[in-house]
Amino acid sequence: MQKTVRLKDQSEVLIREMERGDLDDSHAFFKSLPEDDRAYLRREVTKREVVERRISEIESGAVMRLVAVADGQIVADGSLEISDEEWKRHVGELRLIVGQPYQRKGLGALMARELYLLAASAKMEEIIVKIMRPQEGALSIFRRLGFREEASLHDYVQDQVGRKQDLILMRCDLEALWKEMEDFLASGDWERTR
Ligand SMILES: CC(C)(COP(=O)(O)OP(=O)(O)OC[C@H]1O[C@@H](n2cnc3c(N)ncnc32)[C@H](O)[C@@H]1OP(=O)(O)O)[C@@H](O)C(=O)NCCC(=O)NCCS
Repeated sequence: MQKTVRLKDQSEVLIREMERGDLDDSHAFFKSLPEDDRAYLRREVTKREVVERRISEIESGAVMRLVAVADGQIVADGSLEISDEEWKRHVGELRLIVGQPYQRKGLGALMARELYLLAASAKMEEIIVKIMRPQEGALSIFRRLGFREEASLHDYVQDQVGRKQDLILMRCDLEALWKEMEDFLASGDWERTR
């Protein structure tokens, strides 16, 4: 897929599938993230080999990844992980990160919509997100899109600087997600696609 979207500030961004040729740009994107945003990621994405592994996961079919590109640079990264365990095949795990200069412009919601469409085409029934408690922006956007907090595991994970954090599991079935997402995007007064 490939889609040009217009953000709240009227700037245009291309959302498309990530490919192997994005390795260096993706690495540069992760290195440019402020420590605060990077601290709660699952992996140490400033390491090139970790970014390389993320791309190999696309090729093996384990993960679908999208990037948002503006002025030739990656400005957001989103993924949908597909479990290879039969009992979780109907569930996709979503992850999203928007570079700070592009936050609060609607890009996170637009990326979530494209990831939703990928989940629907893969016939998933439900999407989950896992968030560390301090990720307030993430909690807020996913609540807004219709996700509900299902479980909270006290001090279950460590952030990138070694602090124990609560892990919050949020989930949403695809039907409810579509409705909330469309309502949310329609409530904005910005033109979102063209
Ligand atoms: C969470 C994140 C993806 C949101 O992306 P974004 O492009 O800024 O989100 P949007 O502009 O589409 O915001 C949509 C709505 O979500 C809510 N929201 C988003 N960020 C928020 C924040 N920091 N604080 C409060 N509400 C927030 C708001 O309701 C917002 O609508 P509004 O701006 O009209 O009020 C981004 O802040 C980010 O990458 N954070 C760091 C990494 C992270 O926590 N990723 C999630 C792990 S899965």
